[in-house]
Amino acid sequence: MEVPLLGDALPLVPSAPRWLAVALADLDAVHADHLHCERKAAQSALSLIRSYPMHGELVLQMSRLAHDETRHVVQVAQLMQRTGAAPSFDHGDDYAAALRALVRPREPERLLDRLLVFAVIEGRSAERLGLLAGALPDDKSAALYAALADAEVRHRDVFLALARDVAPDTWRGRARELAEREAELMGRRVASARIH
Ligand SMILES: [Fe+2]
Ligand SMILES: [Fe+2]
Repeated sequence: MEVPLLGDALPLVPSAPRWLAVALADLDAVHADHLHCERKAAQSALSLIRSYPMHGELVLQMSRLAHDETRHVVQVAQLMQRTGAAPSFDHGDDYAAALRALVRPREPERLLDRLLVFAVIEGRSAERLGLLAGALPDDKSAALYAALADAEVRHRDVFLALARDVAPDTWRGRARELAEREAELMGRRVASARIH
């Protein structure tokens, strides 16, 4: 599957400037949350394989993506060891839960919506990891976050390309709708020292 740059189909609003300040004030908590974000990204990719084993291209792309995300788990775990960041249990992600609630229950809309919700989460993660990359105090952490931000942009586009393939006539309209719903959600959120 060729993956062109598809981000224009999913225009996300910028994060409130306050989020970066709150995140930088408690980086250990951000890294601890980030570890779980990467873990859940891998699990989500694998769960799509469980749901759609007949979709060969999806199986191939999601297996690669899960591989990427588990590598990210390793990289964040290494960063946490190096910086002494305290681990934490997963506190849940009400941002992702609110987006998942927008997934329509019946096929084929369900597959389209799951792909697009994951694209939104990848896109937002890319934005925030990029903001952190530009502000982290040590060069090694900043370089890792910059590389991870680039990877999440590629993942966003993998999901958008799959969405385009499964719903060529409707994916752009639905992507715009979900981007608008995400903007409403972002407007209601209180900034916290977490990735989302
Ligand atoms: Fe990742
Ligand atoms: Fe990702």
